[in-house]
Parts: sequence; structure tokens; C-alpha cells
Amino acid sequence: MKQIPQHIAIIMDGNGRWAKKRFLPRVAGHVKGVNALKKIVTHCNDLGVKYLTVFAFGRENWNRPQDEVSFLMRLILKRLNKELDELHSKNAQIKFIGDRSRINSELLASVLAAEDKTRQNTGLNFSICLDYSGQYDIVQAVNRIIAENPETPVTEEILSQYLLTDGIPNPELVIRTSGESRISNFMLWQLAYSELYFTNIYWPDFSPAELEGAIEWYNNRERRFGKISEQI
Ligand code: IPE
Ligand code: IPE
Ligand code: MG
Repeated sequence: MKQIPQHIAIIMDGNGRWAKKRFLPRVAGHVKGVNALKKIVTHCNDLGVKYLTVFAFGRENWNRPQDEVSFLMRLILKRLNKELDELHSKNAQIKFIGDRSRINSELLASVLAAEDKTRQNTGLNFSICLDYSGQYDIVQAVNRIIAENPETPVTEEILSQYLLTDGIPNPELVIRTSGESRISNFMLWQLAYSELYFTNIYWPDFSPAELEGAIEWYNNRERRFGKISEQI
């Protein structure tokens, strides 16, 4: 029996290169990327994955050309509105993780409505990281702790509770597509002991079969958490 990770987190990378390889504009890769994401969300739901977190737009991604940034924001808005009812009917809970202050008001309204509508759902917890970075998350947590409890010494437990991921267990498996072996400021605190799966496949080509392959790989890891190996 395969063990299904409770929490899978994904750095969805390679949309631009997928498009470039086909002589298409970068944004065509983003459109295909959202289609790929839809299949992965459905598959995670079918497999009984409890938490799925995806990195959709990082804080450093604001440094891209304005056209690409606004296309991405419109794409997220459009697909969120389109998929909301289906996700809700599948009992999925939607959450956005990141800095909400710079998101345009139309998208923010949809984000809040999606979270509100699905808050009581008990199926897949689907979190979308938007204007997010791991460093930002830690800094906002520290600032809130200082403001609320200036006298109390900070512990790992307290800091975890102030992170935007409070209530979400740390991911057991992190997947990054597109051949880059880096974390790019994603969940720096939370993936302290995660298994990191890197694949050369560009995100738009990442299929449910690829996901199964990553889960298979995960099943062959020995998670030691600092202890000595039980396999020797
Ligand atoms: C990931 O694909 C999507 C976002 C970062 C928004 P990229 O757009 O980074 O694609 P590449 O890495 O340029 O191929
Ligand atoms: C990471 O991809 C961010 C997202 C997938 C949203 P990037 O394409 O921004 O990462 P780098 O620049 O290659 O490290
Ligand atoms: Mg990239």
C-alpha cells in the first residue's frame, strides 16, 4: 500500500520555458499551467491528500514585466471564479496565503468570497500562495508577535502559530518542476524536514501520472528527523 502524504506542496515552475519551446508567448504557458493545476487538484482530491499548497505568485515575481504580472492576476481571478463552484461541490476548502495588501481590489474580493464560501468544507485543503515568500511570512509573524507579546520569549511553537500557514501541518513532500533545484523563497520555515522532489518536467506538462511518480519516490524515502537509520 502506498502512503499518501498528508500535505503536498508544489513550486509550479517552467511555464515560460514550456511556451518558449513551442514559440508561444510566455503567457500561453501560464494558461496551460492553470489547466495542469486543475488536474492535479482533482487528482489530489481523489487520492485523499488532505492539504495541497501551490506557489502561484511570489513576492519577487512583481519584478516581471507589467504585462505578464497583470495577465497572471487576471488569469488567477478568471479561473478562481470559474472553478469555485466545482471545488465547493467537492467539499474543498480554499485558502490564499500571502500579503493581501497589494492584490488588486477585484481579485481580493474574489479571494475573500472563495475563502468565505468554502470555510466550512472538510475535504481537501487547497492553499494558493499569492504575493507570498517564506521570508515575508517569517517577518510578518515576528512583527505580530512583538506587537502582541513584547515580553514573551519566542519559541518554535509560538512562531509557527503566527505564520500564515497556522493550522496547516508542514508538507511531507515538496515538488518543484522545471529542473531548478532551489526553493526560491517558498515556505522556508515549514519545509525544515520535507522531502524535496525535483523534476525536469515543465509545470504545464506535470500530469497526475507525474504526481503518482513523485508519491512513489516519496514512499522510498526514509525520514529520519535526526535519528539514526532503522534500515541498517
Ligand atoms: C512559473 O513559471 C509561474 C510563475 C512563477 C508565476 P515561470 O513563469 O517562472 O516559467 P519559467 O521559469 O520562466 O520557465
Ligand atoms: C518560483 O518560480 C515562484 C513560483 C513558482 C510562483 P520563479 O520562476 O519565480 O523562481 P526563480 O526565479 O527561477 O528562482
Ligand atoms: Mg520560473
